[in-house]
Amino acid sequence: MKQFIIVNRLDDLDAGSKELVLKAKEALAHAYAPYSNFMVGAAALLDDGSVITGMNQENAAYPSGLCAERVALFSAYALYPHVKILKVAVTAQKRNEHELTPATCCGECRQVLLEFENRQQSPIEIVMQSQDHRWVKAPSASSLLPFAFSNASL
Ligand code: THU
Repeated sequence: MKQFIIVNRLDDLDAGSKELVLKAKEALAHAYAPYSNFMVGAAALLDDGSVITGMNQENAAYPSGLCAERVALFSAYALYPHVKILKVAVTAQKRNEHELTPATCCGECRQVLLEFENRQQSPIEIVMQSQDHRWVKAPSASSLLPFAFSNASL
């Protein structure tokens, strides 16, 4: 089974992952987060080399908003329904701060990532910054969701 990679600095990640993190960071500039002031950017690398980004989209009716990861995933599928997703990077920044702040995918995004993974029948790597400020590369959505509920359960 593939392992989690955990490094202290972004520069210690492999070049492709670092590049995707930087794309996710660019995307968070366009986050619509007037309620939480917590800006999240996500970037999905596709099998044909394209990169599709997303950012959180909040709403005055709070639950109507959507996380950056799901904006990126659903956009990727809408634009390229036949292309597999290889890797997703997530970044966050608090408004009025300059440095990135740690953010790991929420449970609902992990569940959606798992659905994509099962549908395309290949793993999606996930790169994100953990609370201790280290960078984590998870080998798959399923590695982030032990005992998951999935299509196999139905
Ligand atoms: N958020 C994301 O976009 N992705 C995550 O994985 C965690 C949370 C967003 C949702 C909301 O707009 C804001 O961050 C604060 O929760």
